[in-house]
Amino acid sequence: MNDAIGGYFGLEIPPGVSPYPTALGYNSARYAFQALLGTSNARRLYLPWYTCKTMVEAAHRSGIELRRYCLDERLEPVGLPALDADERLLYVNYFGYQGAFIRERLAPSLAGQLIADHAQALFCPPLDGVPTLYSPRKFVGVPDGGWLLNAPAIMPPLPPALSKDRFAALLGRLEDGPEPWYGSYVEVEQGIAAEGMRGMSVLTARLLEGVDYAGIAARRQANLAHLHRGLAGLNRYQVPVQAGLAPLCYPLLLADASQTERVRAQLAGQRIYLATYWRDVLEAKGGCEVGARWAQCMLPLPIDQRYGPAHMERLIAAVSQALG
Ligand SMILES: Cc1ncc(COP(=O)(O)O)c(C=O)c1O
Repeated sequence: MNDAIGGYFGLEIPPGVSPYPTALGYNSARYAFQALLGTSNARRLYLPWYTCKTMVEAAHRSGIELRRYCLDERLEPVGLPALDADERLLYVNYFGYQGAFIRERLAPSLAGQLIADHAQALFCPPLDGVPTLYSPRKFVGVPDGGWLLNAPAIMPPLPPALSKDRFAALLGRLEDGPEPWYGSYVEVEQGIAAEGMRGMSVLTARLLEGVDYAGIAARRQANLAHLHRGLAGLNRYQVPVQAGLAPLCYPLLLADASQTERVRAQLAGQRIYLATYWRDVLEAKGGCEVGARWAQCMLPLPIDQRYGPAHMERLIAAVSQALG
């Protein structure tokens, strides 16, 4: 069919380029992962205990045999056996800070067997030959989508998802704030979970091309530096801050679960809303100690492009006050 000419306009989206123009697009990172596992002839997958439940479910759906592994205090794997050629290991670039570890230590020792999960590390580029997953909506305001870089050559394209009915929370938040639209956001996430494997929607792909990635990275870097200056002394985790890092959040690790819950609740009372990564590890049989501690004691403070120095000061003051 010919392209239509004339008539009314569609939503104006600034032109631009995707940061990963060679990526395969999916409706989410979990379905990119499932598609990748479906085309690999790997027999067994090692997955960290400390990760998002959606990735565990995607691995189960692919039918691959699953083994879980633990992390040490630096969020690096412990107790791994030497891997056979038909085994794979997925490692999460936790909160966007583990790029150097992956590049310098993990990838050289796991050539051909590593899958990098950069759902939390949009700005960390993939390493040559390492299949790498991205979930851009954790960094920018789009409703869905996932990218797979360094896919095997044989991966067939999938029919694209349709996103036009998934914008209520994104639009509503701009006019009304987050509270009235949180339910709509959850519905969209449930819709993605139920949708099955699809390609990235045309709409999401267009929106992702129009994003000012350099500006976003710069704002995240500045906010990270600001929070680190203000909160490093209270943080039980030595955040590996490096020049040029534009991660997901500032992970503030506190002493214990009850203190963390108290601070989280006090911040929520001031309309400062923090995600929880990932409580499922607490229920999983055999889950590891470090993962459980992080699930209970880590507050991911936002450093994203919506915010500037005044917001960072407000965060520092709110956390310091809540900690007494
Ligand atoms: C580390 C990590 N990997 C992968 C995913 C899955 O991403 P998506 O929601 O795009 O499927 C998540 C989701 O929260 C995640 O936190």
